[in-house]
Amino acid sequence: NENGYKLWLRYAPVAGKKIQEHEETLSNIFISSHVSTAGVIAEELKKGLSGMLGITPAIHQSKKDRSYLRIVKQPGSEHLKNLGKEGYTIKTIQQKNNKIIFIKSAGDAGLVYGTFHLLRLIQTQQPLHNIHITEKPQIIFRMLNHWDNLDGSVERGYSGASIFTWNDLTKDNLQRIKDYARANASIGINAVVLNNVNADPRILRNDYLQKIARVADVLRPYNIRIFLSANYASPLPPSSTPDVIKKQGGIGNLATADPLNEQVQQWWKQKVDEIYRLIPDFGGFLVKANSEGMPGPQDYGRSHVEGANMLARILQPHNGILIWRAFVYAHNNKEPDRVKQSYAEFQPLDGQFDQNVILQVKNGPLDFQPLEPPHPLFGALEKTNLFAELQITQEYLGHSTYLVYLAPMWKDFLNFENHQQKIAHIISKKKTVRITGIAGVANIGDDENWTGHHFAQANWYAYGRIAWNPDLLIDSITNDWLKMTFSLDPSGNKKLLNIMNSSWMHFADLQTPIGLPVTTDPGMHYYPALKQRTNMYWKINAKGIGYDRTASGSGYASQYDAVNERLFNNIQTCPEKYLLFFHFVDWNYRLQNGKTLLENLLQGFQQSINSIDRLKFTWHSLKDQVDEQRYKEVQQKIDLQKKDALEFKYYFVGFLHTFLQ
Ligand code: GCU
Repeated sequence: NENGYKLWLRYAPVAGKKIQEHEETLSNIFISSHVSTAGVIAEELKKGLSGMLGITPAIHQSKKDRSYLRIVKQPGSEHLKNLGKEGYTIKTIQQKNNKIIFIKSAGDAGLVYGTFHLLRLIQTQQPLHNIHITEKPQIIFRMLNHWDNLDGSVERGYSGASIFTWNDLTKDNLQRIKDYARANASIGINAVVLNNVNADPRILRNDYLQKIARVADVLRPYNIRIFLSANYASPLPPSSTPDVIKKQGGIGNLATADPLNEQVQQWWKQKVDEIYRLIPDFGGFLVKANSEGMPGPQDYGRSHVEGANMLARILQPHNGILIWRAFVYAHNNKEPDRVKQSYAEFQPLDGQFDQNVILQVKNGPLDFQPLEPPHPLFGALEKTNLFAELQITQEYLGHSTYLVYLAPMWKDFLNFENHQQKIAHIISKKKTVRITGIAGVANIGDDENWTGHHFAQANWYAYGRIAWNPDLLIDSITNDWLKMTFSLDPSGNKKLLNIMNSSWMHFADLQTPIGLPVTTDPGMHYYPALKQRTNMYWKINAKGIGYDRTASGSGYASQYDAVNERLFNNIQTCPEKYLLFFHFVDWNYRLQNGKTLLENLLQGFQQSINSIDRLKFTWHSLKDQVDEQRYKEVQQKIDLQKKDALEFKYYFVGFLHTFLQ
């Protein structure tokens, strides 16, 4: 049973007259011979069409006239050139008695994307007789960040070990990587960071680079470029203590990793040249520096700008980029409210980074909470390239036990306005900067179904579609995913769609109620651990609960534009979902529904539990429509979710009561 492994590319048989009418059209396919991706396009079409329609298409590289699906590269066409190498058109044209479908692009990559789009239309049973589609990605770099370690473990991964099996790159394992590439290409992902941001310096050793080059060969036809997380201390000699290797050791023999030291620059130059000899289309580095104990330029009294620009200048001649993380929790920071640190550190540096440096900013200022206000750096940097970093893996969102669909959360983030601009546009529209991008921390592992929970596949899927076009409506993405992943009747689809859409808020009601962040244990971020989290993240006493980040408190609200600052500072206007993030609130304070804060907290917990009961009931009602294996596996997850959520609720209520005597 491979229903989980195949993801949304199951290519299950499609019935219906509308589709069958096109059998003839799809049986003879022309792909122009100078398309470098012709091989993977033909392969995918054969797989898809045989699965869905039971036909084995003949693929022609000449004899164009007798082919009714034509995949054509036209680098000279003005219209196509405007769509870029990844853009494409799909059109149906009536020629005498025949309908011909054209997929056209100015580039090889666009034809791969166009092919996957056509296959999606068939799988979701869209009419083909009059297609007229023009697509172009809104964001240049649509990335996955893997937090995979060299030993095969995955930091914050809940779906098995790493799919990048460096000690065993056998054919089977490379096949898995190829299927991973297909899945990514089908949703438009075009860049991947293979290793953890807490980077083991050994990834840059020649033996690893050789293996990475083999992976690059598998990903290349799918238009996916490889990036690596680099450890800033790489030029240092290896550490003698293996468990601190990431924080103290390197792979070189220099006495320093000071970015202004010439030998250090020389070391990096040679390393970068070596990488490009092996992987000519290498994307560049991602660096977590001076955060949570990782080494960085500040260890040598240098700034983030000096640190990043040094590497960027070395990558630049190869067309590489340098992605620098803005998530900095440094040991030397004196600021008691840690959410202020990232903006305070980076906003003043706007304009000082080189043109191929990108600042990668997490969606929120704290750390991937189920609910947190958007990071104030969005909109506050005018001259710095900015990537938004989202987390697909559910570190604080119930791991792979809870069904939590993240697309609504990401949309909420993208729709937020700061400095009169929507974040969706800040990260996609080029104004003064050249490079746009979005990164998602992957939820992929070597579990048979890739993501642990079958429904977590939807988060990977939705992430890619949103990265391609952040203005896309969620329901259309979700519907596509449901139709491609299961074969339910329309009412079954609708029920699941509703459950998925509301799952995020119901989860937040339990674990980030009214905006109270960090309620889980410090290690796993899963079990309730409220007492340990007080004072650092929020306060609680007989009067109330929350964290005052207004002008009378930490002043964090002033990092936003004036409109948001006013909105957040005032308890009356602060959106209730962020209330306890910005305010210390009296237990008896009345929310908009007229009930007190305490009543609202308790009611939210109960609604959250009820939503799991509804999920269980709905899933049960679909039993006959889902294959046995997936039915059972999801059912087991739901039972565990219910048990753990109930425990969470009891613990939370008990904790609150200790303050309410
Ligand atoms: C979180 C997460 C860490 C991760 C860090 C980061 O703190 O828990 O595992 O390394 O974020 O994004 O760098």
